[in-house]
Amino acid sequence: KKAQIIVDKYFLTGKTDKRIYGSFIEHLGRAVYEGIYQEGSSLSDEQGFRKDTLELVRELQVPIVRYPGGNFVSGFRWEDSVGPKAQRPSRPELAWGVIETNQFGLNEFVDWSKKVGSDVMMAVNLGTRGPEDAKNLLEYCNFKGGTYYSDLRKAHGYEQPHDIKLWCLGNEMDGPWQMGHKTATEYGRVAAETARLMKFMDPEVETVACGSSNLEMPTFGSWEYTVLDEAYDQVDYLSLHQYYGNAAGDTADFLASSKGMDDFISGVVSICDAVKAKKHGKKQINLSFDEWNVWYHSNEQDKKLEKWVQAPHQLEDVYNFEDALLVGSMLITLLRHADRVKIACMAQLVNVIAPIMTSDTGAWRQTIFYPYMLTSVFGRGTVLNTQVLTPVYESRTYGEAPYLDSVCVWDEEKETLTIFAVNKSLDEDMEVSCDLRQFEGYKIIEHIVLNNDDLQAVNTEAQPENVVPVKASAECSKLDGGKLEAVFAKHSWNMIRLA
Ligand code: AHR
Repeated sequence: KKAQIIVDKYFLTGKTDKRIYGSFIEHLGRAVYEGIYQEGSSLSDEQGFRKDTLELVRELQVPIVRYPGGNFVSGFRWEDSVGPKAQRPSRPELAWGVIETNQFGLNEFVDWSKKVGSDVMMAVNLGTRGPEDAKNLLEYCNFKGGTYYSDLRKAHGYEQPHDIKLWCLGNEMDGPWQMGHKTATEYGRVAAETARLMKFMDPEVETVACGSSNLEMPTFGSWEYTVLDEAYDQVDYLSLHQYYGNAAGDTADFLASSKGMDDFISGVVSICDAVKAKKHGKKQINLSFDEWNVWYHSNEQDKKLEKWVQAPHQLEDVYNFEDALLVGSMLITLLRHADRVKIACMAQLVNVIAPIMTSDTGAWRQTIFYPYMLTSVFGRGTVLNTQVLTPVYESRTYGEAPYLDSVCVWDEEKETLTIFAVNKSLDEDMEVSCDLRQFEGYKIIEHIVLNNDDLQAVNTEAQPENVVPVKASAECSKLDGGKLEAVFAKHSWNMIRLA
């Protein structure tokens, strides 16, 4: 197959907001306990933070981590999670049917985030709670001192404010599974009032309103419109969540899911702009795709879980090679929408539908770790409005889908250009050309490829390097007179770096 990538250095999509490489830690399964925190383990540091996990998270260069949920946040009593550990209560956790011991909480998470070099994206409970508690939590986190909750923070050993600037107004409030589930009007009102109080307290905070839990929600569209109609002036971002799976064993269709993600983003942008037009508004609402990933491998296993235990093996998807291809494509999709998607969180980070897995003896990288890490590290700068002339195929779920997904990111200052590409063809290599004569003097630094003959290949603790990126051979990418000719192997993720 043949394709062409067309870029022009004056035709830009926009600057990448580094927060699109965010991730997510929820009190769920072994994400917190045994994932990032395991007191008493020889693998942990003096605060009980797993050192092996810290290192792998640093490798991903995650700029921001959403916390503490997810569905968990809709029953979260943040006061339970601070202060002397011996006095923290254990409680039944209704979102996931487990017991939460609160031995790891808000302040530990702030410390952990500092150790990995990430900012915190904090969520408030708008399920069982409301504006008053959100305001108190913000006072505890961001107020300098001299008030009840800011002094309580100091008494807990945190003299300086945490200064958390990005706040989610609840989680998936459209979902009937959510504690305190609401109609769009009910939620829009409470989101607006919560954000208003929070901005009275700290005018620098930004707020994210809940969009739909996924594109298949029956209320999709009207939910977004109504919520923004109620809360337009008080919120800064609208959230999107979406997970994909290949339970049907139809890889071509599964890989076309990035087309579904692309359509989802375009649809939500249209709704935001429709509300803006209706309100004669000047402000633009941008998007926070704060839960995205593949999630289906663990579904059957999770149905058998015993209830009311602590930190069970829950949502522990073992990712295969084709999942890594889709994750690579989803990151390309997020980049292609860099003008409107300013925040995105891979859900999640450790053990729970995650790029990093841990056991009592170590930590390892799942297949999806690699496209995430390489895009996070090298996909920063300005996204070029990348036109891809590619053959297409008819997918079962998403209609016509491209065989080639691609995007180019240019860092003018550092003089680097990075091309990310996924060839979704399951049986043919793709010969790709790209005219780069505008980027005079640039040379190919490396062409990295992630590929495997076995689409189902996985990384495990015993065999952690079944699926790893390698350097492509020199014949796979040539630059001659400013014209790039590259070959992307069948079902492969590629990154070509030029400088
Ligand atoms: O990430 C797992 C769960 O998926 C989150 O708790 C919830 O927000 C979503 O449904």
